Amino acid sequence: MKAEDLGNSKLLNLLFKPAGALMGSRLRQWLMNPLKTLHAAGLQAGQTVLEVGCGTGFYTIPAAKLIGDQGYLVAMDVSSGFIAKVSRKVSMADLKNVRVEKRDALETGLDPASLDKVLLFGVIPFPLLPLNRLLPEMHRVLKPEGTLAVWLWPPVVHFWVPKSILRSGLFTYIEKHKGVYNYKRREAVK
Ligand SMILES: C[S@@+](CC[C@H](N)C(=O)[O-])C[C@H]1O[C@@H](n2cnc3c(N)ncnc32)[C@H](O)[C@@H]1O
Repeated sequence: MKAEDLGNSKLLNLLFKPAGALMGSRLRQWLMNPLKTLHAAGLQAGQTVLEVGCGTGFYTIPAAKLIGDQGYLVAMDVSSGFIAKVSRKVSMADLKNVRVEKRDALETGLDPASLDKVLLFGVIPFPLLPLNRLLPEMHRVLKPEGTLAVWLWPPVVHFWVPKSILRSGLFTYIEKHKGVYNYKRREAVK
């Protein structure tokens, strides 16, 4: 079954509900200020950004406010339940610089070299987002100077992910800042 079809499944959305309650909880807001993580990812006003697996929108609303009117954010997820939730939050906040899109991030449908930044926050590793397919797609949609920001949860369990990103040969490491791994898109080796 394709990820997009899976995202419509009632069972999957039901299973995601408790996770969603945790992801969007006040306790999380209190423990993990989303703005700190976004700053650590180098998010700046005017940038064009893809957020993969936006979930309940924990990062979506602060990210959209940070990039401002001159910036643009595509918040993508496969789960129809999360997409509905984030769409409501975006319209309640009256944000015009966000597009909430229900789509498989392995095939974003975005133009090549169209983004300044991709956010992979709490989404890898995930069975529906295998790195061998996700990283080439992120490489394709990033501008030559574009950057990839990765926040892993829980970091201890996923210690091997940064090495896998480097092994792909598609990104070079910039720095780890406040738990966020930052990478620059690498030109494809001919
Ligand atoms: C653990 S949640 C993280 C949500 C959010 N980034 C956060 O930190 O609150 C992972 C999210 O990735 C989404 N997801 C999983 N596979 C996906 C895919 N192939 N394309 C887009 N989103 C996907 C899930 O639906 C889920 O909302």
